[in-house]
Amino acid sequence: VIVKDFAGSIMGRLSDVFKTAIKEAFPSVSVTLVLTEATNPKFGDYQCNSAMGISAALKAQGTSKKPSEVAAEIVAKLPPCPLIEKTEIPPAGFINVYLNDQFIAKQCGEISRNGIKLPSIESRRVIVDFSSPNIAKEMHVGHLRSTIIGDAISRLFEAVGFDVLRLNHIGDWGTQFGMLIAHLFDEFPNFQKETPAIGDLQTFYKASKKRFDEDEEFKKRAYQCVVKLQNKEPEFIKAWTSICDVSRNSNNAVYDKLDIKLTERGESYYQERMGAIVKELTDRSFLREEEGRHLMFPTGCDIPLTVVKSDGGYTYDTSDLAALKNRLNEEKGDWLIYVVDAGQSLHFDTIFAAGRDLKWYDEAVKRVEHVGFGLVLGEDKKKFKTRSGDTVRLQDLLEEGVKRSEEKLKEKGRDKEMTVEELTTARDAVAYGGIKYADLSHTRTQDYVFSYDRMLDDKGNTAVYLLYAYARIRSIVRQSGVSEEEMEKYAAANELLPLGHVKELKLAKQVLKMSDVILQVLDTLMLHTLCDYLYTLSTTFTEFYSECYVVEKSEGSSKVNMNRLLLAHITANTMETALKILGIRPVPKM
Ligand code: ARG
Repeated sequence: VIVKDFAGSIMGRLSDVFKTAIKEAFPSVSVTLVLTEATNPKFGDYQCNSAMGISAALKAQGTSKKPSEVAAEIVAKLPPCPLIEKTEIPPAGFINVYLNDQFIAKQCGEISRNGIKLPSIESRRVIVDFSSPNIAKEMHVGHLRSTIIGDAISRLFEAVGFDVLRLNHIGDWGTQFGMLIAHLFDEFPNFQKETPAIGDLQTFYKASKKRFDEDEEFKKRAYQCVVKLQNKEPEFIKAWTSICDVSRNSNNAVYDKLDIKLTERGESYYQERMGAIVKELTDRSFLREEEGRHLMFPTGCDIPLTVVKSDGGYTYDTSDLAALKNRLNEEKGDWLIYVVDAGQSLHFDTIFAAGRDLKWYDEAVKRVEHVGFGLVLGEDKKKFKTRSGDTVRLQDLLEEGVKRSEEKLKEKGRDKEMTVEELTTARDAVAYGGIKYADLSHTRTQDYVFSYDRMLDDKGNTAVYLLYAYARIRSIVRQSGVSEEEMEKYAAANELLPLGHVKELKLAKQVLKMSDVILQVLDTLMLHTLCDYLYTLSTTFTEFYSECYVVEKSEGSSKVNMNRLLLAHITANTMETALKILGIRPVPKM
């Protein structure tokens, strides 16, 4: 990402001044800047750890200088910077950086007037391929992970102003449609006139598969259906459409509940384009024939792509080659993302290598990547399944979550303090938020254990905890009796939001870190970093609130500390921004 204005990003602004100072002090060495948050307040707020590397580089050039000397020379060249109160150099040669309180007060004042400003980043056209279930097979938890992660990544991009195309690359084409269509003809001969009442596609799929395996006659018919579908005979297209509709309706029910927007563009969309791809690869001599199959061997890959099968048909590889080219050339994507389980990483490595060999894109200007993720496991640490060993239907999974979330809220007697409507809102926010957060708060690349008890726990790093924390801050602000307008007026009249108490400062610094976290996640696409941030933000608020009164009561009268009130207010706003990026609905009352 190209940052145009670091705005509130402290790391960004500090790295700018440190880079300048290092370049001035040591023009002969090139090292990457090492700047981190301090792990302990003893070491200030941030630390620059570049002096050791520079000292080693100088040694290689024949100059000997201790890291602490290097550090001192860097500090001497630091341009004036309003962020920095002071620096300290311990003997090992770190540079400890302390933030200036005035700067913090100014930033917080700014946020209380204009809201949290995310860094301004050069706009990119990003194409995010996510969810992407296969028709006729029920969407499973693997697709749920892709859906949740892909949606959060898209929301993050949208939050920084990118142009995002969210694509659902559903598996809606292929030979399995032959048997489905043949079965449809037998079971719902009226399908042209009325929507077939298939109900559950998985059962329908199983039944047709059974016939396909056991009945030679049926098998033959199924093959004929594939040919006729490929020739686009109207009756067959109609049958195919009916089947896709059933699947689309059940998927959309899941997307609606989870507030997820997607543009459907399945494998069938690339049918026409696949012919052109095969022609291009043939003309450019990229294909090799082996036992009737046409293969491509991309540079550095162990397994070739099967571009044309021996029966002349296309494959998953062919459709992904066509999709890649389409997204680069026709859609003009600058950044292509495929949110698909880690099991498919070899497939994507090979597809991307092919794209590079074909010079479809230049890695220096475009970013094309597979954003993989681990498995969803059951509490027995095995692949997540129902008791009978079937794939868990996502609809059932969501319904169960909602049921348990309502039970929990009632257990706590929350239903007595809320209207029916408020309860429903809270219940759904907890259930869907819980499922999303459980996924996002785990390191994406690792497997995670799906547990309702864990995700609905109101202690620890969970959505419920955060939603309560958020609602609590909103209620503190509401109960102060100060209106939004009064807060706005106060913020407008006071440029600075002066903070003195250590816990106030600690909370303010945590609020200010939001921009840095956003920048970091934009690069790594690791959303658990944002979850961790959010969790720390709310525990830091708790620390603040237990020591600092927002409303001070003495002898019957009470006085609102406006600076603290505003600090609480911007904390809640920051939480709201982060929750929304994660796709979680914050509720003002819980
Ligand atoms: N439908 C595939 C599956 O369920 C995932 C598709 C991912 N996207 C892609 N462009 N290959 O395994």
